[in-house]
Amino acid sequence: MRAVVYDRYGPPEVLRLEEVERPVPKEDEVLVKVHATTVNRFDTATREANRRSGLTISILSRLVSGLRRPRHRILGTEFAGEVETVGVGVTEFAFGDCVFGTTGLQFGAHAEFLSMPVGARIAHMPTGMSFEEAAPICDGALNALTCLKQADLRKGRTILIYGASGAIGTAGVQLATYFGADITAVCNTKNLELVRSLGADRVIDYTQEDFTKSGQTYDVILDAVGKQSFRRCRGSLAPAGIFLPTDGLGNLIWALRTSRTRGKKVLFQIPPRQTKADVLFLKELVEAGKLRAVIDRRYALEDVVEATRYVETEQKTGNVVLTVSPV
Ligand SMILES: NC(=O)c1ccc[n+]([C@@H]2O[C@H](COP(=O)([O-])OP(=O)(O)OC[C@H]3O[C@@H](n4cnc5c(N)ncnc54)[C@H](OP(=O)(O)O)[C@@H]3O)[C@@H](O)[C@H]2O)c1
Repeated sequence: MRAVVYDRYGPPEVLRLEEVERPVPKEDEVLVKVHATTVNRFDTATREANRRSGLTISILSRLVSGLRRPRHRILGTEFAGEVETVGVGVTEFAFGDCVFGTTGLQFGAHAEFLSMPVGARIAHMPTGMSFEEAAPICDGALNALTCLKQADLRKGRTILIYGASGAIGTAGVQLATYFGADITAVCNTKNLELVRSLGADRVIDYTQEDFTKSGQTYDVILDAVGKQSFRRCRGSLAPAGIFLPTDGLGNLIWALRTSRTRGKKVLFQIPPRQTKADVLFLKELVEAGKLRAVIDRRYALEDVVEATRYVETEQKTGNVVLTVSPV
């Protein structure tokens, strides 16, 4: 089968298309013919062993993904496709079922076929969707959900979502809307209308206004793009306010420091607990019209290097899709 592989950590150019062996599903697995996948920030960070985040994070990253060279040659976490074969113990899926999900740390979705344990994050695709629309549902939304679940969001609670135009941000705004919270979203001028359309009650253009200087406070601040810090946001949190980061070693230390104190807290779940039930929950939201993955650009699998370069600008709006086998 065709797959995008890499054998050493480095720039996008370490990625190349190669013929590799098709995986063989175990008895509790399904073989998925992948029609669409994505390039996301987890892929790009893993491919360069998180060098951009500094030496400590890079070493931690290598401990997970392979110390000297990548443990998994094929990147890609999100997928949408059709079940090709099922293991002997599988009853949930059958040949031809349309499925979507995420492989997480196992990667492997930048390929024509992917083997997935049925107990992992895989589900039937929401009805009435294309594979390109289904592939980017999981990454941003699961990361946003992991954060938001910790914050007791409901009607009457206020949240500021910083970086509301990224994969996590666009999903975060929609999930916070679903939970009934009052949402202030912060993004660039060009994305104000999009973010408003996703459910934000008010939007702040960060090129015009620094939300930390307004004197306004919030019950929750989600930094969906890893550009803020607890130290900077503390003054904008209500007395028992919660800061939800998505990135940064410093935030992890703050999470430990504030865990035993009263008052403002940093809540940072590492590693994030994301389950099949979460994927089924997202499927329900999509089918109810309460969640959609925002798609910025689409590339063919063979253009993975170009797609990756774009994701690394850190300026994508929502998600970048790779078409693997056009239907
Ligand atoms: N995706 C994952 O799998 C994953 C997993 C764990 C952690 N993370 C971390 O979570 C963070 C977000 O991930 P993501 O995939 O949602 O990111 P993303 O989609 O790449 O975020 C890009 C968006 O962020 C906006 N942005 C860039 N710089 C900004 C700034 N200084 N202030 C406000 N907005 C800014 C960009 O718009 P403009 O530049 O036009 O404003 C763009 O719309 C990253 O730090 C990532 O490392 C990601």
